[in-house]
Amino acid sequence: MNRLTGLFFCVSLLFGASWLGLVAYPYLTFAGLRQSKDEATGALAPLGVPGTATQGARIYAANGCLYCHSQYIRAKDEGSDIDRKWATRRTVARDYMFDRQVFLGVSRLGADLTNVGVRQTDPQWFYRILYSPQTVSPETSMPAYRWLFVTREIQGQPSADAVKLEGRDAPPPGYEIVPTDEGKALVEYLLSLKRNYPLPEAPEATE
Ligand code: HEC
Repeated sequence: MNRLTGLFFCVSLLFGASWLGLVAYPYLTFAGLRQSKDEATGALAPLGVPGTATQGARIYAANGCLYCHSQYIRAKDEGSDIDRKWATRRTVARDYMFDRQVFLGVSRLGADLTNVGVRQTDPQWFYRILYSPQTVSPETSMPAYRWLFVTREIQGQPSADAVKLEGRDAPPPGYEIVPTDEGKALVEYLLSLKRNYPLPEAPEATE
């Protein structure tokens, strides 16, 4: 083998091994993921995010929520996520198998949102925190997302979605603040975040 062939062989080996490890192996592992079926009840998990909520995931991405919120839970011996009551088990690859984009997050200025739909079930609560985070938590550094709402004159009956606000944030008399279609889709997405089903590879954390 002359020196050029040897060099070519080594470079191919290097790139080939990286491709196998970084592309082929993860692809084969994750492409083979299937829903888990509960032996007793026959329930499938995960179920993925329903219709409008998928649109909400795009709004979540577009508004940079992932710069301050994570969506992954570390195992009990790797951090305090479970002690903070963000979940009762760690998250695993299967939790994200239906997600078009996986929002693991960049930092954790705010709470982890893996199970925010378990903690909060009222759309009003989400509308308030998005329109005026300070009404939910006075000291918070979360920015307001007011472009996901419109202020409009009340026509007949007030809208069922109108955000209930008091004081400085309240709309002028005769007006109401309602979420736009994007605001509604984002809240549906947040309500759908419930990764609290059992998975055999991620048993419930014990004390
Ligand atoms: C600059 C950082 C930042 C960004 C960007 C941000 N948040 Fe937050 N968020 C926070 C902080 C900090 C809190 C905690 C509030 C507190 O102080 O109690 C929070 C709290 C929340 C909560 C309540 C969580 C809980 O369990 O109490 C939700 C829901 C939420 N944010 C959703 C969003 C969504 C959706 C977006 C994007 C549209 C977003 N946040 C963008 C910082 C941020």
